[in-house]
Amino acid sequence: MIRLLDHTEYLQPAPLCIALLGCGNVGAEVARHLAGRDGIIITRVLVRDTGRSRPIAHALLTDSFDEVLASEPEVVIELLGGVEPARSHIEAALSRGISVITANKSIIARHGESLHRLAALHGARLLSEASVGAGTPILAALDRLRGDRITAIRGIVNGTCNFILTRMEATGGELHEALREAQRLGYAEPDPAADLTGRDSAEKLCVLAQRAGWGWIHPDAIATRGITTITAEDVRHARRQRCVIRLLAEAQRSDDGTVSLRVGPCFVPAAQRLARLSGCENAFEIESQLAGCIHVQGPGAGPRATTSAILGDLHSLTASPNGAAATPRSLRRARLTQPGALRRHYIRADAPAGPVDPGTLLDVLNRKGIRADSLDLRSTRTTIHTVAVSSDAAADLAESLAGGHADRCLVAPLME
Ligand SMILES: NC(=O)c1ccc[n+]([C@@H]2O[C@H](COP(=O)([O-])OP(=O)(O)OC[C@H]3O[C@@H](n4cnc5c(N)ncnc54)[C@H](OP(=O)(O)O)[C@@H]3O)[C@@H](O)[C@H]2O)c1
Repeated sequence: MIRLLDHTEYLQPAPLCIALLGCGNVGAEVARHLAGRDGIIITRVLVRDTGRSRPIAHALLTDSFDEVLASEPEVVIELLGGVEPARSHIEAALSRGISVITANKSIIARHGESLHRLAALHGARLLSEASVGAGTPILAALDRLRGDRITAIRGIVNGTCNFILTRMEATGGELHEALREAQRLGYAEPDPAADLTGRDSAEKLCVLAQRAGWGWIHPDAIATRGITTITAEDVRHARRQRCVIRLLAEAQRSDDGTVSLRVGPCFVPAAQRLARLSGCENAFEIESQLAGCIHVQGPGAGPRATTSAILGDLHSLTASPNGAAATPRSLRRARLTQPGALRRHYIRADAPAGPVDPGTLLDVLNRKGIRADSLDLRSTRTTIHTVAVSSDAAADLAESLAGGHADRCLVAPLME
């Protein structure tokens, strides 16, 4: 718990004791900004390898979390990544009344509910502005709109996928080539699965929905498709339609309080603001009853941008140690519903077993009750623009045309 100052300390406040968990890309940048700052003492820095050189005094490094706790920090900044041991360490700190700042969206999405309850029980705070949008203050924007009624959130929340898709547009290359370039530039992890499958975006969408006041949602409950099946030909096809393909995270809250969420590729008209976002940036659109549509855009990754958000959390913690802002502890579980809106869809499916017979194709469309705005059948490849259908119906059609192989088709709604 952050202690209350007595009157002599107002004249010369005692330094704030902070422990860092992790000194990797982000942790090292945070350490650089905190070390030597007036009014701050770094008590310990937890790492796996204490032998490596870091931008922090070697004596502060430890691989023992018990030593971190024994150093009696008032604030813990968690920058380990992954779920364990980060979750257990956050839990141990909060249970001792130590406030925690984290950039870890997986933990906030999956365990935010219990951790916020624990924080409240022990008079601590859990802050996580950097967990979505890195340096783009999207969660702070949602906090500010809590007096209004937020009805929809959509955005490009994964900078790695946005880099890959804009690179495919620029070079005409395939996804694996753009991914290799992203990895060379340090924009993609050596294991990019969480980004490419949409899991990272689904976790961030959960955190956004929490902060919109819609309730707790587990990421596994979100209908999620990634970008792994997008081909250079899909990207060219989108361009011919004056669109670009973007991985969108979309959430809506209905008047009856139910929430629908979706992560997946979308055809976005080239003139739209979201289509113009390039490289690793993130962009968000929030719709609310009173304020209308608000756009927030900025750097979605990178140690410096992430450090900005962490230092912002630290500032709000010290400015208002007992403040309840950004602590959605009164939330219940959200009532979920399937994304119900009917939308036009682009479907591309590659049949695994030889050329498709046109008669059979029309038969499948009739049986599923789906009408095509346009239809292109070339050997084993079928490309369809449907009239407005549900995303489930579009996915079902695509997979049946691809012989049940979800990895041989692309289903993308058209953003109106
Ligand atoms: N990178 C970004 O642009 C960015 C943006 C927004 C949010 N974030 C979030 O920020 C967090 C940190 O990301 P990062 O890119 O800095 O990760 P990173 O470079 O992999 O650094 C992780 C650090 O944690 C330490 N660590 C990991 N597991 C440990 C364990 N079991 N015990 C002790 N130390 C352990 C590592 O120690 P060693 O150095 O000894 O290996 C390393 O110092 C993640 O939650 C990430 O999602 C990152």
